[in-house]
Amino acid sequence: MPAAPDSETIFSSKLRNAWEAATFVKLTLSAPEGDAEAASPRKLKARPVELKDGRRLCLVEAFQTREITRNHPPQEGLKLLSEAFAKGFSRAHLFTTTGDFQFRRESSGQVSVRASRPAFTQGPDLGHDKQRQPAQDALARAPFLQRLGVTNSEGAPRPGMAGKLRQVQRFVEILGHLLEDWGWDASRVLQVVDMGAGKGYLTFALAYAFQQRGWEAVVTGVEVRPELVENANTAAWELGFSGLHFVAGSIGQWQPAGPVDVLVALHACNTATDDALFQGIQSGAGLLVTSPCCHQELRHQMHIAHPLIPVSKHGILQERQAEILTDALRAHLLEIRGYDARVFEFVEPEHSGKNLMLAGVRRGVGGRPVEVLRSELAAMCGAFGLRSQRLAGLLEEVLS
Ligand SMILES: C[S@@+](CC[C@H](N)C(=O)[O-])C[C@H]1O[C@@H](n2cnc3c(N)ncnc32)[C@H](O)[C@@H]1O
Repeated sequence: MPAAPDSETIFSSKLRNAWEAATFVKLTLSAPEGDAEAASPRKLKARPVELKDGRRLCLVEAFQTREITRNHPPQEGLKLLSEAFAKGFSRAHLFTTTGDFQFRRESSGQVSVRASRPAFTQGPDLGHDKQRQPAQDALARAPFLQRLGVTNSEGAPRPGMAGKLRQVQRFVEILGHLLEDWGWDASRVLQVVDMGAGKGYLTFALAYAFQQRGWEAVVTGVEVRPELVENANTAAWELGFSGLHFVAGSIGQWQPAGPVDVLVALHACNTATDDALFQGIQSGAGLLVTSPCCHQELRHQMHIAHPLIPVSKHGILQERQAEILTDALRAHLLEIRGYDARVFEFVEPEHSGKNLMLAGVRRGVGGRPVEVLRSELAAMCGAFGLRSQRLAGLLEEVLS
């Protein structure tokens, strides 16, 4: 069994997840360790800000008599905060719109974590949120959502469509953050592919998101059902979405004409997510965005041994364990292939049970050594008796 993550790792991953999922409200680090010198900050506070260059992490170092504020690119800011908690401060209070977490390191070195209900259910009211609400309202009123039957002319969801509207809103929001993290080259036309587009709600949302930012993109929705393709193409034409089109084809078989920059596959069943990820990786896509569902591949291979035997007694727990393993494995494979993998909540559970998002942002350089990652992969698969997994097979990664 791999070692359980320590509380500092949990802190970093909770912080990172909240940032990726745009649920981060603020963070305070306090109680500096050792002798608090006047030259050291007594507190470190962080909150998101929206600047003209995009979303940044605003870090405020509070000294005895003054404060120093600096805005950092997200990845740099998150790293600084994780290091500050690991080395400098013994208390951390993380506020997110889905829950709050208090971390406390005792003098013995032991760290405890206490979770509580969120004090803030709305994002921070500085910059970022001031722009977000109008942006979300404008999106709800966008003609494409009315044309596809998601909202009415007031921007309110039609009966049964509140969950889909929420997905579209979150998707556009998350996409913006992921694109910023990737650091796309906005001067060229991006090639974007949405695999398993269905009725095209989220494919239109993709085209809308690029259009709103003034970035040129060709968005292609790939869908196996020709009637959905035809309806979606008609809607795209009627709505004047010139860079958006849908094609009939099957994930894994349909081949793009050239390299893909952004590969999306939302709610593609079972191993279709793997096929889509593989195509994105093969194409050298900078950004991979998936929301996996119907994980069936590993459940019957999975061998649950001591001390997890009680998990196998209950079908639903076994099913969830298989889901976690599948997506953890996919995330790890993305890391091996040079992507920073992000796993976080897509929409709130009350809107959809299919609420996990797995994204990959291609890194330039760096990352952990591939040999270490491969040995972790083998250890995890060995611990659960996993012999094969679709994405691993396509990438020719050995599981044991
Ligand atoms: C659950 S829907 C998701 C639609 C859309 N991505 C969304 O999240 O709203 C899955 C869609 O994928 C299509 N699909 C299933 N297998 C496929 C395959 N192998 N290739 C292309 N499309 C596929 C289905 O016809 C269906 O429309």
